[in-house]
Amino acid sequence: MYINIKNNPENIETSKDIIIPKDPLERVIGHEDIIQVVKIAAKQRRNLLLVGPPGIGKSLIAQAISFHLNQPSEEISAVHNPERPERPFIEIKTRKEIIADKIAIEKAEGEFIDPKNVPDAVSERLGFKCMHCGDYNSVYESICPNCGGDKFSNINARRKHLGDLLGMFEMSSGPVNIPQDRVTTTREINGREEVVIYERLGGDQIKVLDQKALEKRRELVDEKPMHVVVPLKRKFFIQATGASETELLGDVRHDPYGGHPDLGTQPYERVVPGAIHEAHEGVLFVDEVVHISHLQRFILSAMQDKVFPIVGRNPQSAGSSVRVENVPCDFIFVGACNIVDLKHILPPLRSRIQGEGYEILMNTTMPINEENEAKLAQFVAQEIEIDGKIPHATLDAIKILVKEAEKRAKVIDDKDDAFTLRLRDLGGVIRMAGDIAVMDENPYITQKHMKLAAKKAISIEDQIIQRYKTYENALQKDLTSSQQSVNPHNKKYQNENVDRSYM
Ligand SMILES: Nc1ncnc2c1ncn2[C@@H]1O[C@H](COP(=O)(O)OP(=O)(O)OP(=O)(O)O)[C@@H](O)[C@H]1O
Ligand SMILES: [Mg+2]
Repeated sequence: MYINIKNNPENIETSKDIIIPKDPLERVIGHEDIIQVVKIAAKQRRNLLLVGPPGIGKSLIAQAISFHLNQPSEEISAVHNPERPERPFIEIKTRKEIIADKIAIEKAEGEFIDPKNVPDAVSERLGFKCMHCGDYNSVYESICPNCGGDKFSNINARRKHLGDLLGMFEMSSGPVNIPQDRVTTTREINGREEVVIYERLGGDQIKVLDQKALEKRRELVDEKPMHVVVPLKRKFFIQATGASETELLGDVRHDPYGGHPDLGTQPYERVVPGAIHEAHEGVLFVDEVVHISHLQRFILSAMQDKVFPIVGRNPQSAGSSVRVENVPCDFIFVGACNIVDLKHILPPLRSRIQGEGYEILMNTTMPINEENEAKLAQFVAQEIEIDGKIPHATLDAIKILVKEAEKRAKVIDDKDDAFTLRLRDLGGVIRMAGDIAVMDENPYITQKHMKLAAKKAISIEDQIIQRYKTYENALQKDLTSSQQSVNPHNKKYQNENVDRSYM
């Protein structure tokens, strides 16, 4: 058997020796042609619709796309609108602006400076320099280790002298004979006098706050009130379950005090993003698109406009009067569904995907060849790694799984010379084999374990056929005679509702 020659040409004894690719798209088995399209979609930010039966990797692909996207570059905040608090503004900051702001804040925090590089009088005053011998030493040494003089004894006497030296001079108050922690003075820069503050931080550092830093500090204090709705650091992959409109489109939280200026929280602070906003610059994944049929038109509108307002959605809530316009939601839409559900997708939504993206029918089998055998072996290694609770599989055990993939292609997909790609089910076989190996206290999943699991891990429908030969038989036997006599239509009724499809 050929196993991942690329990774490890020889000596593959168990699934442990198989190298698992780092790129999640490379971990998707059997859809190589599709992966090429998906990579283009990620690069060009196109929408996608993945169509196919359950458990063949639709969610896996959708998730993997986000690995190929650039880091988000925008942060979205709701900003207080003083004239109309219930109409907060939206502010978008780019990564560059956020970094610039961060630097500004750091600047406002002041720069650290060596005690030797500040005027002597300041250094003495903050306790670093001995006023008797000029030696620099720790602020904690009140007696100079160099000359033995009392470093802080003459502070009051020196005050006048320092004042003369530095012009305007103000000492922070505090008991005499201990060093000051803050000195405000002035200095001349390009012929202009400016205020400068020296602060002692901790034991041995001085921070300088110049005119610019002081102005920035003041600005930051007066900064407009805002609340980050979609932070720069966020997930690129958002799965919308369609559980509610609120989850998809956002909301404004209730405030029992109705945004009272003193008691309540202001509307801008109560803005909650929807999945469409959180997916801004990333992927919005909607599994089973049909299940959110009533929300499809909102998704469509968001896709078209790339902005969608956030409004309070509960009419009883104080949030219902709040509306934030133009909240960005520039996402890549990835939808997934079964073939039978295609007809339930809103035609304009499908047309959007066809026009600005790709509709992809997933493969359900792959041809039998050595490369695909190797892929299945890689799949075994991946599933074991993901599970984390089961041991690795021997080469012989992997071969049994490969045989099982072939068998299932024949039985379920009606295809000869192929491997099935219904890999979620096949993953179930691996996990069951792993559990059997654990119970067996075996360090590896062996051929025996995999065979047993392949036999046992079959769907309930197949188990019924094995036991009762046909569904009809099973249903007959399942009903007690009393049930049958009470309702003579039972048999027919039940039979019509049996879904034998493997979709
Ligand atoms: N093509 C594949 N390559 C590798 N692993 C796969 C593949 N398909 C399925 N799997 C395994 O099965 C699991 C389920 O797959 P996934 O969730 O992507 O299926 P799906 O197509 O989204 O199914 P559903 O329609 O039920 O949501 C994956 O987490 C993975 O472990
Ligand atoms: Mg899925």
